[in-house]
Amino acid sequence: MSLKKKTIKWLNKNATSLSDKTILITGANSGIGFKTAEVCLFLGARVIMACRNKERAEEAKKALINEYPQADISILTLDLASFSSIDAFANEIIENKIDINIFVNNAGVFHRPGKKTANGLEEVIGVNYFGVYYLAKKLLPYFESLDHEVDFVTTISMIYKFAKKINYNDFFYDKKYKNIAVYARSKLCLAKLSYYLSQKYKNSNIRIFMTHPGISMTPLGINAYGKIVGNMAKAIKWMFNSPEKSSLSLIYALSHNVSAGTIVGPTKLFGGWGYPKINKTSKKAKTGAEELIEFTEKIIKERI
Ligand SMILES: NC(=O)c1ccc[n+]([C@@H]2O[C@H](COP(=O)([O-])OP(=O)(O)OC[C@H]3O[C@@H](n4cnc5c(N)ncnc54)[C@H](OP(=O)(O)O)[C@@H]3O)[C@@H](O)[C@H]2O)c1
Repeated sequence: MSLKKKTIKWLNKNATSLSDKTILITGANSGIGFKTAEVCLFLGARVIMACRNKERAEEAKKALINEYPQADISILTLDLASFSSIDAFANEIIENKIDINIFVNNAGVFHRPGKKTANGLEEVIGVNYFGVYYLAKKLLPYFESLDHEVDFVTTISMIYKFAKKINYNDFFYDKKYKNIAVYARSKLCLAKLSYYLSQKYKNSNIRIFMTHPGISMTPLGINAYGKIVGNMAKAIKWMFNSPEKSSLSLIYALSHNVSAGTIVGPTKLFGGWGYPKINKTSKKAKTGAEELIEFTEKIIKERI
């Protein structure tokens, strides 16, 4: 582990201290979420890891404590593929008045043909979009009640720009599963939701914005297509952003005090590579949320 010299140099130049902040990161046991936790600890934050698997979370915590023995790290259970797990997670935060300054919706999945959430939704859209929607609805009123500012950050992907116009008659690609298209739709929905919420909460204590990591060879991509493709992906991972570099999008956004609705991430190679910068929030993200939310509410009602 331990951060690379060039990351520390970048942090010294670009980052502000997080020593008075508590940051909750979903999916903090792996990939970009894990590196985000590490970078935030380096900057002095307290970290809450919200993970679906207790063992994997404990293992990741152990690795972080090994590097930062004084670190304040706790673990909460969250399975975004289950509305009842999200309910329990949100209730735990609200009932125990857990104080959070930065909430990062990082967890996500890719390529799950035939897989469904506990509530019977296609898993990629179910976890990446419905999970975050349901969680936001539960937690934003609580964050609004806190007497300090809260950042509510969502990890999207630049693939959202290439997503097809949403077809509400085949929202989950039931007719023909198209891996990339399903993932792109999940991230387009997230971008629309995040931008909509960023405007809704603009005059409150909650600042809502988005980050994207570029392309990074994490378990999400490496494990998606089996061993052979996974090994090929590992062999060329140096060509892409490392998870560590990808985690800097959040740090850039926090340190540059970006405004609500902003997207921060690499801009080279169509957003696939490089250090983070402020991106243009496209019309695709800025429009169509009302119809999407109406549809989402209908689906949730049917599934609970
Ligand atoms: N890697 C890229 O090139 C890339 C590009 C654009 C955007 N992103 C986004 O970046 C984020 C992080 O992905 P990554 O690349 O770091 O992948 P990763 O290493 O596979 O990490 C994904 C994390 O999400 C967690 N997760 C998956 N399903 C979950 C569920 N149902 N409930 C709670 N947590 C769940 C995973 O937990 P387990 O370890 O238990 O599976 C893991 O901790 C994702 O939102 C992804 O879409 C990644």
